[in-house]
Amino acid sequence: MTLGEIMNIGVIGLGFVGLSISSVLASKNYNVVGIDIDKQKCSDIRNGVLPLFEPDLENTLRIGLKKKLTISNNFSLIKNCDIIFVTVGTPQKSNGAIELSMIKKATTTIGQIIRKSKKNSIIFIKSTVVPGTTQNVILPILEKESGKKVNRDFGVISNPEFLQESNAIRDTKYPHAIVLGGKQSKYMKKAKMFFSKMHPNVPIVITNFQTAEMIKYANNSFLATKISFINQLSNICQNIPGTNIDDIAKIIGLDPRIGKLFLNAGPGYGGSCLPKDINALINFANKIGVNPILLNAVKNTNREQVSNIVSLMKKILGDITSKRITILGTAFKPNTDDIRDSKSIELIKKLLKNKAKIIIHDPKAIENTKKIFGEKILYTKSIADALNKSQCVIIMTHWKQYDTLNNNSIKHMNKKNIIDCRRVLVKKELDAKYYAIGIGKN
Ligand code: UGA
Repeated sequence: MTLGEIMNIGVIGLGFVGLSISSVLASKNYNVVGIDIDKQKCSDIRNGVLPLFEPDLENTLRIGLKKKLTISNNFSLIKNCDIIFVTVGTPQKSNGAIELSMIKKATTTIGQIIRKSKKNSIIFIKSTVVPGTTQNVILPILEKESGKKVNRDFGVISNPEFLQESNAIRDTKYPHAIVLGGKQSKYMKKAKMFFSKMHPNVPIVITNFQTAEMIKYANNSFLATKISFINQLSNICQNIPGTNIDDIAKIIGLDPRIGKLFLNAGPGYGGSCLPKDINALINFANKIGVNPILLNAVKNTNREQVSNIVSLMKKILGDITSKRITILGTAFKPNTDDIRDSKSIELIKKLLKNKAKIIIHDPKAIENTKKIFGEKILYTKSIADALNKSQCVIIMTHWKQYDTLNNNSIKHMNKKNIIDCRRVLVKKELDAKYYAIGIGKN
């Protein structure tokens, strides 16, 4: 039996992964239904209003909506889909383990819908889940709810996602690799054909469920390890007068065995993925009786970075009670308004505990930051206002706007102290006391 050409695609869960995939596939002329349980969110998206800031997404969504993209909270629309991507969140519980309630709910509904469908759909699990989840949790739900048999009546493939926020559209269009985990079957063959047509020169790895699931954790935990490694080194460098962490990263990065990316020292990794995935892998390893010594060290190194910034600030200013401190950047990285697990948010919380007066600037993330701190801190749209009367400025996120800071920009600071966590101003001659993560002070 052949399964026919893939034309109708369903995407369940419209976070930045689901939205990017829906928009890109619709812009490539597939019939796409993007489903989310949040009615208001669906109606906003239909009107081209995004729930998040992601470069190029708005434009790609607009093209998709003009073509064949339907956005709805009505799950039954997936009944005619040849393939269904599951892109719902798997947030973390307080013990670090992943919360499966959303993926269980989504797969229950999918199962009930494919029960009535004549299609032999393929379900791609893109949500990040620990090894064993597809086999032991998702498959039984789908078979029970559909009354059908996997690999005979429908396919299930673990298909982890590697796209980065702020580059979501680029990464969806040009992934570096595609992982397909599952049993060898007609569904796997069809999936391979679909992806090789979409991405002709991209390596496709076919493996089993648990390996595919583990690849995602391996990828993110290696990235986190690189960041914690360079951050640990940067702390050492800070105590060797004249040492520059960026020169070190640049040179070791030229060794192809190391590679130059993800060696930017800073306040630690944040965001909705790296911290959560490290925690989940640590939790999983402990559960199966493996002591994750390295992963724990990566996590602890990451946690220390913000405490190091607070210590440095206290060294510079003494008691920080009532002192006006400027934070430049609250987004967890530039070109996003996402502040989930942002190191900047963690820093502000610590400074507030020390009764400092905080004023923040961020080109995109002010509204999200307000949701956390309300009236407890001050917000400004202008960098000049943020610096006015300040006793210390901390550059947390490398927005390109901060590259232009100079002596003129800091002239109205009360005390000219700069802590540059991203070494944005390292090459400038500044009439200020300048401290940077990873630069040893002479
Ligand atoms: C990360 C991975 O990079 C993606 O491949 C993965 O698909 C995604 O998680 C996910 O699991 O969904 P993302 O969360 O968008 O992507 O963020 P990254 O670009 O990886 O940055 C994470 C954090 O590390 C940021 O706070 C960033 O400032 C920090 N970072 C990154 C550094 O401090 N130094 C670096 O050299 C690189």
